[in-house]
Amino acid sequence: MQKENQIIVDGLTFIPYLNCETIRTEVERVGKEIARDYEGKQPIFLCVLTGAFVFASDLIRATGLTDSKITFIRYKSYEGTSSSGSVKQITGLTDDISGRDVVIIEDIVDTGLTACRMIEDLKKQNPTSVKFATLLYKPESSQTGFVPDYVAFKIPPKFIIGYGLDLDGKARNLPDIYVIKEG
Ligand code: IMP
Repeated sequence: MQKENQIIVDGLTFIPYLNCETIRTEVERVGKEIARDYEGKQPIFLCVLTGAFVFASDLIRATGLTDSKITFIRYKSYEGTSSSGSVKQITGLTDDISGRDVVIIEDIVDTGLTACRMIEDLKKQNPTSVKFATLLYKPESSQTGFVPDYVAFKIPPKFIIGYGLDLDGKARNLPDIYVIKEG
C-alpha cells in the first residue's frame, strides 16, 4: 500500500531515504574501487542471498571486471525488523574458492554477526583473500567490531527496506530505499 511518497508494509510506515540516482552514484564509486584493487585478477564475487541480489547485479556490472565470476550463498539472521542473534547458513557454496580472491557482496552490515560467521566459514576453504563489500553499514549497531572493506553508505541504526532489502520477504522490489518512520 502506498500513500503519496510514504509506504506501508505490514502496518509499518516507511519514508523515502535514498533515491535510485543516489544509490547508483555510490554503487558506481564502489565498483570503481573494486576494479582498481582487482585489476589483472580473477575474483569470485559471492552474493549473499537474498537481500544482496539487487546490489550485486549493479555492482558487478559497475566493476567492469570481465574475468570475474559470481556465485551465491544464503544466510538468515533477521526476523521482522531486528536481528534474531543467531545466524543460519541456508544454502552453501557450490563453487571451489580455494586459491581464489573472494569478494563477498552483502546488502547490509548491522550487528556484524552474519559477516563474521560467513568469513569464518569461508576461510576454512582456503581462499587467497576475502574482502567484504556492503551497500549499507550501520556502525552504531555493531556487536562484533567488524568493519567492511567497501561501503556504499554508512547509515544510523534504523530499519530500512527497498533495493533488495525486505521486511519479512516484502518490499525488495522498491527501486529506492525507505527508512522506518518513528513516532
Ligand atoms: P547482521 O548479522 O546483524 O549484521 O545482519 C545482517 C542481515 O540482517 C542482513 O543481511 C539483512 O538481511 C538483515 N538486516 C539488517 N538490518 C536490516 C534492515 O535495516 N533492513 C532489512 N534487513 C536488515
